[in-house]
Parts: sequence; C-alpha cells; structure tokens
Amino acid sequence: KILILDFGSQYTQLIARRVREIGVYCELHAFDMSEEDIKAFQPNAIILSGGPESVTAGDTPRVPQVVFEMGLPVLGVCYGMQAMAAQMGGQVSTSDHREFGYAEVKVEGDSKLLGGLSDRHDNEADLLDVWMSHGDKVTAMPEGFSLMASTPSCPIAGMADEKRRFYGVQFHPEVTHTLKGKEILDRFVRTIAGCDGLWTSDNIIDDLVDKVRAQVGSAKVLLALSGGVDSSVVAALLHKAIGEQLTCVFVDNGLLRKNEGDMVMSMFAENMGVKVIRANAEDLFLTRLQGVSDPEQKRKIIGNTFIEVFDTEAGKLKDVNFLAQGTIYPDVIESAASKTGKAHVIKSHHNVGGLPEDMKFELVEPLRELFKDEVRKLGLALGLPYDMVYRHPFPGPGLGVRILGEVKKEYADILREADAIFIEELHRADWYHKTSQSFAVFLPVKSVGVVGDGRRYEWVISLRAVETVDFMTARWAHLPYELIERVSNRIINEIEHVSRVVYDVSSKPPATIEWE
Ligand code: XMP
Repeated sequence: KILILDFGSQYTQLIARRVREIGVYCELHAFDMSEEDIKAFQPNAIILSGGPESVTAGDTPRVPQVVFEMGLPVLGVCYGMQAMAAQMGGQVSTSDHREFGYAEVKVEGDSKLLGGLSDRHDNEADLLDVWMSHGDKVTAMPEGFSLMASTPSCPIAGMADEKRRFYGVQFHPEVTHTLKGKEILDRFVRTIAGCDGLWTSDNIIDDLVDKVRAQVGSAKVLLALSGGVDSSVVAALLHKAIGEQLTCVFVDNGLLRKNEGDMVMSMFAENMGVKVIRANAEDLFLTRLQGVSDPEQKRKIIGNTFIEVFDTEAGKLKDVNFLAQGTIYPDVIESAASKTGKAHVIKSHHNVGGLPEDMKFELVEPLRELFKDEVRKLGLALGLPYDMVYRHPFPGPGLGVRILGEVKKEYADILREADAIFIEELHRADWYHKTSQSFAVFLPVKSVGVVGDGRRYEWVISLRAVETVDFMTARWAHLPYELIERVSNRIINEIEHVSRVVYDVSSKPPATIEWE
C-alpha cells in the first residue's frame, strides 16, 4: 500500500484516486503525520503531494525526515519535489516565470519513472504533455540525483536518484491533462514500489464482507436507507455480509421524486430480499412544514422530523446494537487535509442532520475508505442497476428546498410530475449523464397563459441543469434548445396548473445549485 502525505494541494485527492484506479490501496494523511504513525502504516512507497506554499519561506511544511530513512521509494510531486530537494541539500528558488497550465516536458536520461515515455505519434519525440502549476522551482539537484525531465522555463522538471529510488516531478501526473500521468503513477507504484494491483471491486467486497462479519458477529444492524448511492451500496453490501441481521428503515417524507419510494421498496425488499421498513410519514412532514417559508427553518424541520421518525421505527426493533452509515472517504479525510490550514477544503455544508448522539449504537461504516467512484463500482459489482448507481445526487430535504417558500402537497405533486418529465427527456436525448445534477423547481408565482379565449393564471416551473466536478462550482448546462422546448411543451400540456417553464442560466458562484 501507498502512503500519500498531503501538503495541501487541491489535487491531492486525485493522486489517491489514480493510485486506487491502478489497483493499489493508498491512504491520504496530513504532512505532519508522526514518525510512529508513518512506520505503523507500513507503506511500500510514499508520495508527497503538491501544496500552495513555498519551501523558500521559513516555517512552511517539511517532509518528516523518517520518510527518507525507511529505504522506501518516494515520489515528490510539485511542492513535494521541492521539499525533497531542499531537505536533501539541493536548491529551490522562487521563479520569476510562473508556469500554470499546459506545458511540454522533454524526457531526459533513462529513469525507471519516465524513461522511454512519449505521448507523440510513433514515439518519435521524447516529449510529454503535462499540467504544471507552480511558482518555485528546483535550481540545483541534491547529490545523487540526475535529471529526468526538463522544460525551457524549468530546466529541472524532474529528478531521480535511482539508487535510493527517490523521484521528483514538477508537473502533476495525477491530473488528466498530463496524458501519460496514469502510466507514470503506474510505473511508480507497481514497477518501482512493486505493489500488486489487488484493489479491485471483487477483492474489496470480499474484504469488507469479512470485516463487517468480524465487527458485528451475530448482532443486529440498523440502516437508514435513503435510496441514494451510498446508503444503497451499504444496504447491498451488508445484505451480502449478514443477510437477515440487517434491517433498513426507509423514511418516506412526502418530498421524494416521483415513484421513488416504490422503486426503493421494489429494488431492495422485493428483488433483493432485504428487510426494509417503510415509514410513510408524508402527513407528519407536511403538517410540520405548514406555514414555514424560511429555507433554513424548513431544512431544520425536515432534519429533525426525519430523526424522530427514524428513532420511533428503531425503537420498535429489539436488540439492535449497530447502526450502519454510508460515510465515505472524502467525509473522513477532509479533517486531515484541513490540518494544513491551507488546504482547499471541500466541505459540503449540509450533510443531512446526523443522528442523535444519545443513540446507543456502535457505528458500522464499511465505505469509510472508499472514494465515490469506488463506491459506484462496488454498487455495480454487488448487482445494483447502473441507473441507480449513477443517479444524480438528491438533497436530504428533497423537494422541500425545490418548492420555494411554503411547502404544500399540491405543489409537491406538480413538481414531481414536472421533474419526472424533465428527467425522462434528458435520458431520452442522452443528456442525463452529461449533466451532473438536473431537476425542476417549483416557483409559487402565478403567471398568465391564454387557453382558448380565456386568460389563466398558473404556476411557474424552472428547469435547472448543471455541469460540475465537485459541486463547489458549477456551470449551467448548455442543453440543446430542442430538448428544452420538448420538456417545456410536455410540462405545460401534461400538467394542469403550470402556465410557464423557464430555464435557469445562472452559474455557481454566486448562484447555488439548489434554489434555496
Ligand atoms: P448548493 O445548492 O449549495 O448545492 O450549490 C451543492 C450540492 O449540495 C446539495 N444540497 C444539499 N444536500 N442537504 C443535502 O443533503 C441540503 O440541505 C442540501 N442543499 C443542497 C445540492 O443538491 C448539490 O448537490
């Protein structure tokens, strides 16, 4: 396995994802991980990430000395290379030429990492397209190192000490713009560090099944199943691991998408034989939401009511000692990365409620070590349908934040129909998976429409579709006009009480993805 020390680059998680894609397990830890912990982890190799700081400044992050003393292969990326150079006796200077973006590096010498690589036609030139993002650069290599790559503005773009198996690259192999990036990482973790590609969905499932069984024994486990990717994969996995010992509670809050509750029940309860209790709590949620129009207030009410309903259902079960949750790796590592203080912390500002602390359960979190793309692959390997595993995310408060202002059943019913038409047409036009999140929003304003000879004042539906990688920034999707037209016609013709459809052309920031 590989240890990745994080110096705060926004790309650090990408390094981990690439290494996992290659089939090798890795973990990400903050650069100040203790010597003890580093040794206890027993890595086969260590990767030092990039970072926003300058090694030429005084008290910036340093590589724990033990990293260079364990006899392991080390790969420094960007800041990681600079820190390695500075700490081993080389020189780093602040560059007057800032390189950012695409660059062309020339492969020098015949290192194990880059030797013979080329992404040019017929391999006629030893050039590589790479992604650079740095101000500082290494200006003198430490003793024992030789040149591995160069660019005109960055003569030492890569250095290698083959004897000690230390490598540094100024560019970012983890970014897809570096065309041969994955091959470079593959050479490092498999050829140089000698790791086997055993991290595959099937092996992960076997491993997790064993772990869950060891953790819970013959005890009973409870899971709040939402129908989202993470809790669905947990359900499928636990069902495989402990079968009847698992009970899921699915809370229908009346704010779900069209047919969602029935779909969850038929998939898990009927098809897979998972024990699922469906709590039909629509009336309770809608009563609590009556007269409330403040979005944060609505979120709170929905969150608290969820906990209450879940609690009541859980209370009816006997002898449950474990609570399963769909926590995934990014939820866990955020705290480690934020230790640098400088890290680009990607934190979703709203993870659903959380369960009350006085619940006397031990947690089962089988997906804790997995990235979202790994969770999805696991879902497929466990037999979940593609469309469910690759479904767009849906917020915990559901339609509650897509009906602006006060939530009413009448509005929710209209919105469900409109949303279903939009999603159906997106699928039909092969656009669903080209967007990251798409949905309809109910606007409680009356707008005029002429029907026959009469003027009718009816509600407005807005369509929202965005493209995003991390949901922190997003661009409105440039859907074809014909598609928007078809959706609009269908919504206005098929749904009573809707007179107008608009398309949201706001990007984030400043407009958020949801309307509330
Ligand atoms: P915004 O609207 O903040 O949304 O751009 C970013 C992502 O978060 C989702 N979202 C929520 N998820 N509870 C959730 O579980 C919420 O209250 C909530 N609000 C927004 C949103 O759907 C998008 O994917």
